[in-house]
Amino acid sequence: MLTITPTGKTLGANVTGIDLSTPLSTADFAQTIKALGQHGVLRFSGQRLTAAQIRDFSLRFGPIQVGVSEGFRHPQAREVGILSNVVENGKPIGVADAGQDWHTDMSYRDTIGFVNVLYAVKVPVRNGLVLGDTLFANMHAAYEGLASEWKSRLAGMTATHDFNKFWENMRQNHASTRPPLSPEQRAKRPPVVHPIFMTHPITGRTVLYCNPGYATRINEMSEAESDKVLDMLFTHQLQDKYLYRHSWQVNDLLIWEHIGTLHNALPDYGPDEHRLMLRCQVMSTPQMFEPGFLSRALEEGSAVH
Ligand code: SIN
Repeated sequence: MLTITPTGKTLGANVTGIDLSTPLSTADFAQTIKALGQHGVLRFSGQRLTAAQIRDFSLRFGPIQVGVSEGFRHPQAREVGILSNVVENGKPIGVADAGQDWHTDMSYRDTIGFVNVLYAVKVPVRNGLVLGDTLFANMHAAYEGLASEWKSRLAGMTATHDFNKFWENMRQNHASTRPPLSPEQRAKRPPVVHPIFMTHPITGRTVLYCNPGYATRINEMSEAESDKVLDMLFTHQLQDKYLYRHSWQVNDLLIWEHIGTLHNALPDYGPDEHRLMLRCQVMSTPQMFEPGFLSRALEEGSAVH
């Protein structure tokens, strides 16, 4: 019997009574999607999963994206990416600095990210203290907390999101050793435009869809005004009252929905303190945004994408 216990914080719930190595029943899947809308981040602890099982679980939520850098895919399931600071035989086994600033995955794509699935294989621990936590911010609450003048003023406005912004921020401000994107990689990821306020496909509520990692410009404003308003939005959305912190345990499978949250992976561990995560990035599909599509699909027990 699947049980969902909220953390009591602004985001997060623990899901127990389920073994994800076997397919979720239609009813359990429907409950999981609804809980994802309600709590943003769900933790399934104590899961013993192969890469193929992580992929199969992830595919229930939508198509899985494979990034512009084709390296670091799991040998048993290439849809599963490897995030890690482990080096074997002089070579990194995964992306060492993924997600280490505030962002929403794939807001830089026309079809945006829907769900992230992240499985902890190794978690760094120093003097009994777990490191490498992941922080989340609640964008349902951030929208609700915006002053009503901003809600009216920004309604109908759009922001440009650019993959290169995060990439260059990592290189310039976080000492990342990743090389600049090649012209071919940049051409594959041109900037895209999304509304600043979106109707969340699960909850039907409005969320603030704008994040410091990728949003570069509010298109309906002058550059100077856009810079000021983006700074205001970034400060607003990252207030402590909207934040939730997940401290990892080995065999945690964490899923979060991207449309109503931001996240940030904390790099507070050293090169010999090993962190190894397996990740599937699940995309949304256009039909998910049709009013009532998800709730109908869940009632009928049909695919949500
Ligand atoms: C990510 O941004 O997808 C990675 C998060 C993490 O490693 O904690």
